[in-house]
Amino acid sequence: AEPGDLAGLRVLVSAGGTREPIDPVRYIGNRSSGKQGVALAVAAAERGADVVLIAAHVDGQVLAEASGRSGIRVVRAGTAAELADVVFAESADIDVVVMAAAVADFRVADVSPRKLSKEGRARGLRLDLVENVDILAGLVERRRDGQTVVGFAAETAQEDELLERGRRKRARKGVDLLAVNEVGWSKGFESDDNALHIIDGHGEVVAEPKGSKREVADALWDAVLSVR
Ligand code: PMT
Repeated sequence: AEPGDLAGLRVLVSAGGTREPIDPVRYIGNRSSGKQGVALAVAAAERGADVVLIAAHVDGQVLAEASGRSGIRVVRAGTAAELADVVFAESADIDVVVMAAAVADFRVADVSPRKLSKEGRARGLRLDLVENVDILAGLVERRRDGQTVVGFAAETAQEDELLERGRRKRARKGVDLLAVNEVGWSKGFESDDNALHIIDGHGEVVAEPKGSKREVADALWDAVLSVR
């Protein structure tokens, strides 16, 4: 990382976890705090990039590190469908898109307009889920010349299987770089530290940063520069 080495680059980073409503007061969500995505946005801005940060559900304190900072514009999105709309609308003039958000693969088919009640449900409650749009795949479809698309892969697998899954996901999604992120109860999500295996378009591991989320963010931007 060199001061100003991202100057002139327009980047979009998504951060945090989507929330898929069940009824007006309940949702299906995940444990993403937004720390990794916000660290990517802050690192890029400090290195001179123009940043659009698309924030799904991000911890208030975490988001405060990015909002109001020069070089970062924050746009909020709640559900995966909203995130898709905002990311597609904002990415047209963007040079590098990084999807660090934890996006729900499924949403509730029929969101109840009224708070669901236990009454009359002695046999339990079933929710039908339908698949959400794959934002990363949509970005790759829309990719214009000179645009770099970077995905994350949150995987609970380890070692060889982790990389195999990462390589398969890289090929399936067609992204330029994939940051494979081993996750678990106390790994990846919510923690202050992280470790990534960054795979390029040939399936080669180009970097394996470990450290604070800011340190791995800087390593990811270095990898982006190396493929542009
Ligand atoms: O927010 P933190 O607490 O700091 O945690 C950081 C993190 C672990 C959430 C982050 O580093 C991370 O791994 N983010 C990606 C989480 C994820 O959704 O991974 P996935 O393997 O399910 O998805 C693969 C890729 O496709 C991701 O880039 C994701 O943004 C994207 N995706 C997924 C589903 C979908 N419908 N559309 C997508 O674009």
